[in-house]
Amino acid sequence: MRTRPLKVALLGCGVVGSEVARIMTTHADDLTQRIGAPVELAGVAVRRPSKIREGIDPALITTDATALLKRGDIDIAIEVIGGIEPARTLITTAFEHGISVVSANKALLAQDGAALHAAAEQHGRDLYYEAAVAGAIPLVRPMRESLAGDKINRVMGIVNGTTNFILDKMDSTGAGYQEALDEATALGYAEADPTADVEGYDAAAKAAILAGIAFHTRVRLDDVYREGMTEVSAADFASAKRMGCTIKLLAILERAADGESVTARVHPAMIPLSHPLASVREAYNAVFVEAEAAGRLMFYGPGAGGAPTASAVLGDLVAVARNKLAEATGPGESAYTQLPVSPMGDVVTRYHISLDVADKPGVLAQVATTFAEHGVSIDTVRQQGKDGEASLVVVTHRAADAALSGTVEALRKLDTVRGVASIMRVEGE
Ligand code: NDP
Ligand code: HSE
Repeated sequence: MRTRPLKVALLGCGVVGSEVARIMTTHADDLTQRIGAPVELAGVAVRRPSKIREGIDPALITTDATALLKRGDIDIAIEVIGGIEPARTLITTAFEHGISVVSANKALLAQDGAALHAAAEQHGRDLYYEAAVAGAIPLVRPMRESLAGDKINRVMGIVNGTTNFILDKMDSTGAGYQEALDEATALGYAEADPTADVEGYDAAAKAAILAGIAFHTRVRLDDVYREGMTEVSAADFASAKRMGCTIKLLAILERAADGESVTARVHPAMIPLSHPLASVREAYNAVFVEAEAAGRLMFYGPGAGGAPTASAVLGDLVAVARNKLAEATGPGESAYTQLPVSPMGDVVTRYHISLDVADKPGVLAQVATTFAEHGVSIDTVRQQGKDGEASLVVVTHRAADAALSGTVEALRKLDTVRGVASIMRVEGE
């Protein structure tokens, strides 16, 4: 057992960082045994130095994160500041000074993961980021390491806790969108700017990271098709309920049947109540991974929040500290294939479309013809009339997204169609 401690710089001490510091202190003895050397919190970089931080020695606090990394005694940096800058420069500085990094920063990893992995490799250091995807759930390392001998073909899951919390509240208690978002923010689930959550950017960043790992290719944030959940209404939930479904914000990553391309998308979708993802409540996340030999695996657990996320960070800290003692590094980026990411138009799935139409003879036939003309086959139609107008709910069989878009464009041009109230994909059947 080495007695000289490994020194840790904590960059950021907010929702996640404060829990990392607390667990490092309260579990110090166990961490020492598991690593084979003590780990010591040697400095804590923050923005507001005068803020009271329970359990943290004020002498450790600094606003100069760069100086902390450059002072020469730091072994491992934990980046839990978030955002692109200064996080990116600080991580690069850490590598340049021989420091391995643990980060929870999905926004940065999705945008600049390739460059950061290259910098880590160049300097012979580790870059670990289990906490960046799905909070406490061990997912990144199982996919990078445990499934490294298999071939992953599909990943589908709920990877954002805030939006799952909001959708669950809207569905189960009839809560309003803003009320549920405020509660998620107060509980520490939301990003500094919750637009990242509700508009699907956070889930898209996680999708890009997971797609890269799953398919051993580079998937950029811009490659991920993204729709947020701000348009999901009480009427959508009512319609979903009539179909025996609920609504979730899903991330879906697929390898094409010929293996020559992949797709990556994030959008709200109706899923049957019988599907395991339908029972994922509050800020929990769940991810299905389908691998050729392993079959279907499901990963489930708390997807956001200080302590759950700190658990993932601490797991990485132990792994990186062990590597450091062994003078080794863990696996780096594995992006040896260059699979193109197909556009959303190529994705094939089912759709639920709500239309407001005139309630008169021939309208249904006109609508059905429009679907047929675009090669989209109708599964069910439900019509409800009111005062000369009617609402029409069409559920399709599987069709290409481009065909559905063409259908909707044509429907909007019909005189008898007053409006397209909502379009939602149907998944998980
Ligand atoms: P917070 O906003 O709660 O904390 C951010 C911390 O960074 C604060 O301590 C802040 O200082 C500090 N900080 C901000 N700017 C600087 C700077 N320029 N120099 C030094 N310190 C700075 O964020 P979270 O803890 O919620 O999130 C941190 C990271 O973890 C993000 O990447 C997030 O996406 C990720 N994450 C968060 C999860 C969650 O559930 N919250 C779950 C999974 C990942 P001060 O305290 O003085 O304001
Ligand atoms: N804001 C994120 C979420 C934090 O709600 O999922 C966890 O990554």
